Amino acid sequence: MTDPGEGLAREDIGRLYRTRLSKGRATLGELFGGHQETGSEGAWVTTATGCRFLNCGGYGVFLMGARHPTVVRYVTEQLRRHPVATRLFLEPQAALAADALLRTAPPGLERVHFACSGAEAVEAAVKLARTRGRDQLVAAHGGYHGKTMGALSLTGKAVFQEPFRPLLPGTHHVPYGDAEALGALLATMPGRACVVLEPVQGEAGVVIPPVGYLRAVRELCREHGALLVLDEIQTGLGRLGHWWGAVEERVTPDMLLAGKGLGGGVLPVSAVLASAEVFSAFDKDPYIHTSTFSATPLAMAAVQGALAAVEEGDLVRRAQDLGRELLREISRIARRHFGGLVREVRGKGLLIGVEFTVPGPAGDLLVELVDNGVVANHSLNSHLVLRLTPPAVLTPAETAFLYEAFDRACRAQAARHVPHARPAPTRESGTIHA
Ligand SMILES: Cc1ncc(COP(=O)(O)O)c(C=O)c1O
Repeated sequence: MTDPGEGLAREDIGRLYRTRLSKGRATLGELFGGHQETGSEGAWVTTATGCRFLNCGGYGVFLMGARHPTVVRYVTEQLRRHPVATRLFLEPQAALAADALLRTAPPGLERVHFACSGAEAVEAAVKLARTRGRDQLVAAHGGYHGKTMGALSLTGKAVFQEPFRPLLPGTHHVPYGDAEALGALLATMPGRACVVLEPVQGEAGVVIPPVGYLRAVRELCREHGALLVLDEIQTGLGRLGHWWGAVEERVTPDMLLAGKGLGGGVLPVSAVLASAEVFSAFDKDPYIHTSTFSATPLAMAAVQGALAAVEEGDLVRRAQDLGRELLREISRIARRHFGGLVREVRGKGLLIGVEFTVPGPAGDLLVELVDNGVVANHSLNSHLVLRLTPPAVLTPAETAFLYEAFDRACRAQAARHVPHARPAPTRESGTIHA
C-alpha cells in the first residue's frame, strides 16, 4: 500500500479519482480544498500534508470519535484471533454482540439481524414486513433511508429516485410529524402497511417532530394493523442524548434499525432489531435472507467495543449535556452574524441543524468551515441546512476550537450573504448538491 503522503502527489490522487473512481467525486473533493485524509484520532482527522480538522461531520458515524481505544482493542484482538467466519459453525462474537445490543433497546425487541450498510438493514426490514403480509410501505417526505432499490423507494427525495424508476410498488409518503395524515392513509390499507420513520429526520435537515408524535404513530399502527419500523441508523446509540429516540418517547417499534456508529467508527455494521413475532420467518429459515459478511466476527467485535465505549464514557449523557451547550452557542453565533437569514437552529443531543431562509449560506458555510479547520455536513435532503454531528468525546478545548472556527466562518460568509455586513471575499457562491 502506498502512503499517499509520500508516494503520490496530490495531483496524482486527484487524477486517479477522476479516471478510476468518479469525476464528480473528484470535483467535490476539490471544492473542499482538495485535502486527502490519511489519519484520524478522537475528534480529529488529519491529511497527507499534516492539516488537522475537528470532525463534526462524517454523516453521524463518529459519536465516540475515531479509533476509540476500546473499539480498537476489541477489533484488534478479534483480528488476531478470527476475523471472518466459516458461517457453518456458531460464532460467539455474533451472539454476544446481539445480546449486548438488545440490552440497550426498548423491551420487546428480541432478535437481531446484522448487515453492513444502513440501506441493507432497511432492505431486511422491508423483507421481514413482507413475510408478515405488510406489502404497503409508508414513509415520510424528506425521510432518508438509503439508496439501494428498496430503501430508495422509502427515501423521500425525487432527485435520488427519478433516475432509477420504477421503484418498489405500494410505497406511500406522508408529511413528517403529521399523525392525522398518517392515520388517514393507514385507514385505507388495514393490516397491510409497514410504516418506516426516523425519530428525528437527519438528512432532511434535522427535522424534529412534535412531542408525542412517535407515540401517536405507534398507536395508529396498532389500530390499523400496521408494523412500525424506527430507522435509528443516524439517531441511535446516544446521538440524540438517549440510547434511542424510541426510548425517549417510550415507544417499542416492531423493528428498530441501527448503523453508522454501531461499528464504533471503525467498521461498517448495521442491524435490524425485531420482535420475535416479526422475525419468525428468519427464525424458521436462516437461509431465506443472508449475505456473506453479515455478522462477521470482526464487525461483531466492533459492535461490542462500540457499546462498551458508550457505556464506559457515559456518552449518552455527555451527548445530552454537550448537545444542549453546543445548540445554545452555535445558535448564538449563527444569529449574531446572519441575523434574519437564519430560519432556525435546532437539535437534539449531538444532531444539530442550522437552517437558513435561502439556499447558498449552508453550502458556503460548509466550505468556509473546512477553511477554518472543521468538518461538518450538508443535509442530503435539504440544501438549506448545515448539519453538525460532533462526537460526544469533545474536550472543553476542542469545543472552544469549534466555537472560534464557527465564529470566524460565519463572519466571513455573512460578509457575502448579509447585505451591508462587510465586503465580500472573492470565492464564488454555491449550493452543495449531493
Ligand atoms: C436514517 C438513515 N437511514 C439509512 C441510511 C442509509 O445508511 P447507509 O448510507 O449506511 O446505507 C442513512 C444514511 O445516512 C440514514 O441517515
